Amino acid sequence: MATTGASVVAEAPKIVWNESNHKFETEDKKAYLQYQLRNEGKVMDIVHTFVPSSKRGLGLASILCVAAFNHAQSHSLSVIPSCSYVFETFLPRNPGWNSLVYGDSLKSSI
Ligand code: COA
Repeated sequence: MATTGASVVAEAPKIVWNESNHKFETEDKKAYLQYQLRNEGKVMDIVHTFVPSSKRGLGLASILCVAAFNHAQSHSLSVIPSCSYVFETFLPRNPGWNSLVYGDSLKSSI
């Protein structure tokens, strides 16, 4: 019997950019990454990441971060990792994104 195997492959959740609320969020809006724009919109300060307790530990916060960092990269923005998850967990585990971090300090204030 032919099968694509699609039913056993978990798909990555779709992340939506909510520009007016300065968020990247799941379609149900229950998990999100929130940022503020600084330096005339050239710097994305990631201030908060939230995942509902029932979905924690599955990498959802990391997927939100990848969406935000991809956005920052494609819009030539620097990133301030004010959120402890981004600073303490995401960046050490994904050091390739450190090149986008604002200034010399990994955690900076403007
Ligand atoms: N600061 C830094 N790292 C954290 C953290 C925090 N507050 N909370 C959890 N982590 C780490 C854990 O050590 C965990 O490590 P493990 O993989 O070895 O178990 C890792 O994050 C899990 O990564 P991931 O699965 O990508 O994250 P998640 O989808 O479970 O979501 C949070 C992580 C922090 C967004 C979620 O726990 C949450 O919403 N917490 C409440 C709000 C909060 O504290 N936000 C961060 C500060 S703004």
